Amino acid sequence: MSSQPQPIPQHVAIIMDGNGRWAKARGEERLFGHAAGVASVIRSVEAALAHGVQVLTLYSFSTENWKRPDSEVNGLMRLFVEVIRGHIDLFRRQGVRLRFIGRRDRLPAALVETMDWILAETASFDRLTLVIALDYGGRDELLRAARKLAEEVQSGHLESGAIDEALMSSTLDTAGLPDPELMIRSSGELRTSNFLPWQLAYAEIVVTPTLWPDFGEADFRAALNEFGRRQRRFGGL
Ligand code: IPE
Ligand code: IPE
Ligand code: MG
Repeated sequence: MSSQPQPIPQHVAIIMDGNGRWAKARGEERLFGHAAGVASVIRSVEAALAHGVQVLTLYSFSTENWKRPDSEVNGLMRLFVEVIRGHIDLFRRQGVRLRFIGRRDRLPAALVETMDWILAETASFDRLTLVIALDYGGRDELLRAARKLAEEVQSGHLESGAIDEALMSSTLDTAGLPDPELMIRSSGELRTSNFLPWQLAYAEIVVTPTLWPDFGEADFRAALNEFGRRQRRFGGL
């Protein structure tokens, strides 16, 4: 080990995958795996705080996940409400501010109310920003941004030539957040599944075979160490 301090990414994004396989391996329903995955969410939040990561984004439900059976979708929506409501004390104690990316128009009213409540409750905290990607899809996000910019051009408030990377970034759901430098995916899948296509353009990707309910501090630390060993060139030499 060198004594050089490791560079810590400001923003870590995680595709939390493998809950269903974890449950199946135990002869349980998929929802049992999702419930077990909540402990890994909390362990990751604590690890992010301990390592001084400033933004943690968790892919919780994709625009494609609506294809799953109603029972699983409804169970997940209820679980999101429960998890958000159940961890207000942790967020307060640790100074965790919540934020959501993705669509709100297709989520159940009880979940949207819970989201608005936790946003208000944690608005003044700044140690860690916990970004929950809910009904999030990168293509959907880019389409919404494109429409918004097109409307501004059409109404004469914006010149098309003024659309640059900074304006595009600030039109996305992640406006104001730094791009993730590290993206972790659990369960071994080598794809990005419509997660943050614009923002991950230069992220380092670490895939671990660990299924999400087994993911813990050691996996988080291992990913940070792997990040520290990567040589980031950004197209230069
Ligand atoms: C990830 O676990 C959680 C969500 C997509 C909500 P999966 O449910 O995708 O688990 P696997 O991939 O089927 O094992
Ligand atoms: C990605 O996992 C979405 C979330 C983790 C919320 P999926 O399990 O839905 O992705 P695919 O189907 O393997 O690409
Ligand atoms: Mg999956």
